[in-house]
Amino acid sequence: MNQILKFADVQLYYDHVYALKGVSLEVNEGETVALVGANGAGKSSILRAITGLRKIKSGEIHYNGRRIDAAAPDAIVKMGIAMVPEGRRVFPYMSVKDNLLMGAFTRSDKAEIAGSLEMVLGRFPRLKERYSQAAGTMSGGEQQMLVIGRALMAKPRLLLLDEPSLGVAPKLVQDLARSIVAINRDEKVSVLLVEQNSRMALRISQRAYALTTGSVALSGNSADLLTDERVKHLYLGGEI
Ligand SMILES: Nc1ncnc2c1ncn2[C@@H]1O[C@H](COP(=O)(O)OP(=O)(O)OP(=O)(O)O)[C@@H](O)[C@H]1O
Ligand SMILES: [Mg+2]
Repeated sequence: MNQILKFADVQLYYDHVYALKGVSLEVNEGETVALVGANGAGKSSILRAITGLRKIKSGEIHYNGRRIDAAAPDAIVKMGIAMVPEGRRVFPYMSVKDNLLMGAFTRSDKAEIAGSLEMVLGRFPRLKERYSQAAGTMSGGEQQMLVIGRALMAKPRLLLLDEPSLGVAPKLVQDLARSIVAINRDEKVSVLLVEQNSRMALRISQRAYALTTGSVALSGNSADLLTDERVKHLYLGGEI
């Protein structure tokens, strides 16, 4: 299997306080990999390091066999990595359409951009219905679809999702999970999924890493982790 992302022994600090103290993980081509762990464990810091938003102190990050830990954030987007950050930030006064087009800012081929737009609207019909609506007036779940759609407009090969289910109504979480599975499968996009909803994340991923205060505490096949007593106790609220 081809490795698309390799995160090797990475340390990351905020001032003098460490957030990652030697984290290693991999994402293989075509995989969905989940990253679970408590608040403050370092999940978002991993995504910030991959996207170049935060420089690492030591270790290496490789994407497609190329070292990227010194690259600038826009260069990293161009290489095919897109992130949906925490807190689903849409441009509230811009239409759904313009929000989506913002996602294509690193691309120049108009026909290809139109093709991506069609793909996103096909995948999220709700966005098509609300095409001209100001993004800020949409529901939380709709805004989450929009930020995922916007990330897809960059035509990524690796999609980083930071807690997409947060603030989404329980009924819609399942739809969201299905969309993530479909994007991974149909668009040939590898996914690194950070989730508070560990059960959902483990169900839709092939492998997972559980973080505890800046270190990987457990990793393995998601199906195995779902039934692991330690995981149940620490991350799944004790029951399944
Ligand atoms: N800008 C910052 N300045 C200082 N410390 C920070 C900063 N961002 C994060 N941290 C600290 O780094 C640690 C890891 O934070 P991070 O945001 O990666 O955690 P997380 O696992 O994503 O948590 P959550 O589930 O709450 O989103 C935390 O202790 C946090 O307080
Ligand atoms: Mg976070």
